[in-house]
Amino acid sequence: MKNYSNIFKPTRKNLIKCAKILRNHGVCALPTETVYGLAGNAYSNIAINNIYKLKKRPKKNPLIVHFDSLKSIEKETVNNNFLSKIFNKFSPGPITYVLKLKKNSRISRKIINKNGTVACRVPDNSYFRKIIKLSGSPLAAPSANISNHVSPTSSLDVYDEFKKKIKFILDGNHSKIGIESTVINLVGKPKILRPGKVDKKNIEKIIKNISNNRSKKILSPGQLKKHYSPGIPIYLNQNKNKDRGALLVFGKTKMKGKNIFYLSKKKSLDEAAKNLYKKLRQIKKMGFKNISITKIPNKGVGIAINDRLKRASS
Ligand code: TXA
Ligand code: MG
Repeated sequence: MKNYSNIFKPTRKNLIKCAKILRNHGVCALPTETVYGLAGNAYSNIAINNIYKLKKRPKKNPLIVHFDSLKSIEKETVNNNFLSKIFNKFSPGPITYVLKLKKNSRISRKIINKNGTVACRVPDNSYFRKIIKLSGSPLAAPSANISNHVSPTSSLDVYDEFKKKIKFILDGNHSKIGIESTVINLVGKPKILRPGKVDKKNIEKIIKNISNNRSKKILSPGQLKKHYSPGIPIYLNQNKNKDRGALLVFGKTKMKGKNIFYLSKKKSLDEAAKNLYKKLRQIKKMGFKNISITKIPNKGVGIAINDRLKRASS
């Protein structure tokens, strides 16, 4: 039996313990509604260096900073015309806003993009927001996985990634969305840099003429290919499994066997998003050598699912 002595339940006492680690420049893994994050004090270069080191993340890939309110985002960033309108509709929630950092902000310059922008999000997880309040600073938190692995959606996934290298993992059940936040650049013409649960159609009800990230210029370093990989080959738009591989099905199939897995039998894209990383991890762990996946409709959160799968298969 494994000893998970670094996984803690979200009791009041444990939230205080976690905030104390963060105040002392430590790193903790925390649940969010999208995926689990590896959190550290966004003002602390020591904490930030540790996050990059633990994740083996390239230094040039900036981190998302998590806040507990719109007001606290506005304290650190240059006034933006779109922000409060879009924020009031979608936040707290699975969306991240790229904004210009104020010159006098104390946010670590190690986590901003080279164009002077910072990614800001208020997560819809009350424990996470409570810990931000208790620790007294915004928290930088990339997904809690080694770079290029799939993101974790449970405390045990985080444990599998880092074992005892993290002192404190907060257990907050399975992430209810299961796929990383939508990232939207609000500096200049609004542009979606990473698709997520909040899709373009929804945002266009608030801001007209959103563009997708089709320009050759890389605005978001994390959107490079070869990302989100479960560590075995992935084949898209398949109807059957390959040699020693599993088949991951959206909807139903007549095929039977231990190598058939389901994203959502009832064809719910939300359920498929929630299951995606969990199933990829499970299939890899069971020893299959590759994963074939059936076609997934390219609408709503399906756009985000296909985005991640395309990168995983490249
Ligand atoms: O759902 C999420 O967003 C999760 C949870 C933990 O909040 N976090 C997450 O962080 O997915 P990470 O670091 O794995 O992905 C952040 C993405 C990367 O693609 C990064 O390049 C991009 O956001 N990013 C961060 N700061 C940026 C900036 N200033 N400008 C453009 N892109 C930025
Ligand atoms: Mg990530």
